Amino acid sequence: MKSLFALALLASSSSAIAASIGPEHQLYKRDLATSDPSYPSPWMDPEADGWEDAYAKARAFVSQLTLLEKVNLTTGVGWEGEQCVGQNGAIPRLGLRSLCMHDSPVGVRGSDFNSVFPSGQTAAATFDRILMNRRGYAMGEEAKGKGVTVLLGPVAGPLGRMPEGGRNWEGFSPDPVLTGVGIAETIKGIQDAGTIACAKHFIGNEQEHFRQVGEARGYGFRIAESLSSNIDDKTMHELYLWPFADAVRAGVGSVMCSYQQVNNSYACQNSKLLNDLLKNELGFQGFVMSDWQAQHTGAASAVAGLDMTMPGDTEFNTGRSFWGANLTIGVVNGTVPEYRIDDMAMRIMAAFFKVGKTIDQPPINFDFWTSDTYGPVHWVAKQGYQQINYHVDVQADHGVLIREIAAKGTVLLKNTGVLPLSKPKFVAVIGDDAGPNIRGPNSCSDRGCDDGTLAMAWGSGTANFPYLVTPDAALLAQAVADGSRYESILTNYAPAQTRSLVQQANVTAIVFVNADSGEGYINVDSNEGDRRNLTLWRNGDDLVKNVSSWCSNTIVVIHSTGPVLVTDWYDSPNITAILWAGIPGQESGNSITDVLYGKVNPSGRTPFTWGATRESFGTDVLYTPNNGAGAPQQDFSEGVFIDYRHFDKADAPLIYEFGYGLSYTTFEYSNIQVQKSNPGTYTPTTGTTAAAPTFGNFSTDLNDYVFPSNLQYVYQYIYPYLNTSDARNASQDPHFGQTAAEFLPPNATDSTSQPLLRSSGKSTPGGNRKLYDVMYTITADITNTGSIAGDEVPQLYLSLGGPDDPKVVLRDFDRIRINPGQTSQFRATLTRRDLSNWDTTLQDWVVSEYPKTAYVGSSSRKLDLSVVLA
Ligand code: NOJ
Repeated sequence: MKSLFALALLASSSSAIAASIGPEHQLYKRDLATSDPSYPSPWMDPEADGWEDAYAKARAFVSQLTLLEKVNLTTGVGWEGEQCVGQNGAIPRLGLRSLCMHDSPVGVRGSDFNSVFPSGQTAAATFDRILMNRRGYAMGEEAKGKGVTVLLGPVAGPLGRMPEGGRNWEGFSPDPVLTGVGIAETIKGIQDAGTIACAKHFIGNEQEHFRQVGEARGYGFRIAESLSSNIDDKTMHELYLWPFADAVRAGVGSVMCSYQQVNNSYACQNSKLLNDLLKNELGFQGFVMSDWQAQHTGAASAVAGLDMTMPGDTEFNTGRSFWGANLTIGVVNGTVPEYRIDDMAMRIMAAFFKVGKTIDQPPINFDFWTSDTYGPVHWVAKQGYQQINYHVDVQADHGVLIREIAAKGTVLLKNTGVLPLSKPKFVAVIGDDAGPNIRGPNSCSDRGCDDGTLAMAWGSGTANFPYLVTPDAALLAQAVADGSRYESILTNYAPAQTRSLVQQANVTAIVFVNADSGEGYINVDSNEGDRRNLTLWRNGDDLVKNVSSWCSNTIVVIHSTGPVLVTDWYDSPNITAILWAGIPGQESGNSITDVLYGKVNPSGRTPFTWGATRESFGTDVLYTPNNGAGAPQQDFSEGVFIDYRHFDKADAPLIYEFGYGLSYTTFEYSNIQVQKSNPGTYTPTTGTTAAAPTFGNFSTDLNDYVFPSNLQYVYQYIYPYLNTSDARNASQDPHFGQTAAEFLPPNATDSTSQPLLRSSGKSTPGGNRKLYDVMYTITADITNTGSIAGDEVPQLYLSLGGPDDPKVVLRDFDRIRINPGQTSQFRATLTRRDLSNWDTTLQDWVVSEYPKTAYVGSSSRKLDLSVVLA
């Protein structure tokens, strides 16, 4: 039997260690940002809106559980212990199989016969709530069809503070309102389909560099602790927490805490983040799961608000856990209060029931670790040989939706009139981004390469393509159907041949280029997840410049994970059109063909700003540690001024602003009207919670927790059992004998009734109900002044009016189909939250006295209409 280890009950903040070791250049601890403590950890509210039934079902179930079974719910079985990327312990006595926690935000990862959807960022570019919701629903269906319990997405962290951030494409947009809509609609879709969604990564997870100590060592840096994202209270509320409030309000079942530290306390044991912001203020009723190896303490993380550890071992394949047996001991000896383990179990089971699941779950029918049909169900142990892959086809007709989303998420950045194409005489397609990866679309593990067309970026946020329609294949088929001449050169490195092709008469040259990025555990061409620059990859800039110097009708298509620098070439008269096609997924070629040929009239809007230079963005990834061997410190000193808010404030040079995008028709805006509602004044929440409930009881005799003699031990598997009934030996804890009060923070084990926060709801996930009161309704008329039907994306911006406020902030938008000559009405609302700032003294949202102006227009800089809000 494995031996238990002493890592469990360390309560000390690791940042204290970080600040005391290391060479010069290390900052003094007193100079580092700190995170306030917040205890005790809030327990579930039986009356929370939308959770009442789930709570009742969870209570009925959890009340039957033994302590060991509750611990099993909270603790993963270890890396590669079962079939999914993470699974917890089963409760066979009551017929509950292990829950499957599985990636990704674009499809079922590492499986087969599943779809690959456009990225969150591309979905955001549609500015279309219905498509975002349908995408979520389809992904939820596919996950469910494979036996996934929790789909590990969608993403609002990274938000996109830095354009170089490797995982920005997994999320939606650096604008919190657009991301808030994206994450909420996706969650509703996923959960309506019967799968639990997981809003991740909570919070401040804006770059890949230094998110994990071991990973950093892999690229040459020895640091003792992960990066600290130092975020002030106002910025936290007005920017990074905003979309998570929308996620909680949408009823999200789980939240994943992130790898890095926030204000020098690890996100998965940061009581300010988990207890205070997420559970108290936002009223989150689901469970918090750690990112994979993001847990660093046992009892400390339990009382700070963590509910489930993934994948369960301290680090991959150690065979030891901070929880598991150590959590069993911790509860028995009173270090971790009983209500806390009960609350963890309640939260997990309530999320389970909330999405309509029943205890008799269909089995998991795929295996993440191998595509073989038969193999060991416990992968690392090589134990339990059986059928593990059933190759279930879950795609349904999702390809149609994927094609539509990617087309509608394509942004037409420039068009001198050459588009849409209509039976062009001769099409020349240039660039390796138009063609296949000749080794196969799934040949690079977790898509960690940039070979062939970029339809998915890299990391855990990926899935295997069932097929990949390349731009070359789709454009060739279109050309054949049209009777056009067609030639493609699917490399960026054939200048002579390219020149001789595109110099010919009647050519429409379409150049495909890209810029890739991904998750920090994979390095592609010296990009450690984060991009190391904002230029095009694989000599793309030279390719564009060359082709456009030889051909006066050059169309450029960009696949990328964020903005790239187009300054050197975008205004060349020979470049007749530019399109950003995002990260489109499996139907890539069909989607871009639909747009180029006008089968879809483009209406995507860029979900980020395209700065003129790298420096113009005002923020950048921290690529080199700045605190000696201590935790690298990243100060979010720009506050809420990222992306367009920064460009507006600094008047920094840009090429295409947030919200911008062209159509094949034209629109005119007129007749702005405002209507004030009277929802009454804001009422801060008062009162207290009930005392913490407990469900069931447990024995304090450690003999009852010893590994059962009739159970076969699986190598490296994490169990809730002890290897001896001698507590000191079972835990091997250096703190053994100390009481909780001696090493846990004050109030950490308090189970008495607690005051409600004024900004929190009374049983209203998302915060105080009054924050979502509609204060103003704004309407405007939009007329299609062109000759073809098209979708317009009217946007409502607000000036909050204060000296520290951004010039304007996005607050609402819609996507409206309008026929030529017709006028439609855009209707948007402003809630109390929309009009408020976070008051750090009051700890609440407040509408300032500054005059507020609403603007309506087609981008963050084209705001034709405005009205002062009285
Ligand atoms: C780490 C990633 O940060 C997270 O997004 C993912 O869900 C887990 N690994 C599991 O693969």
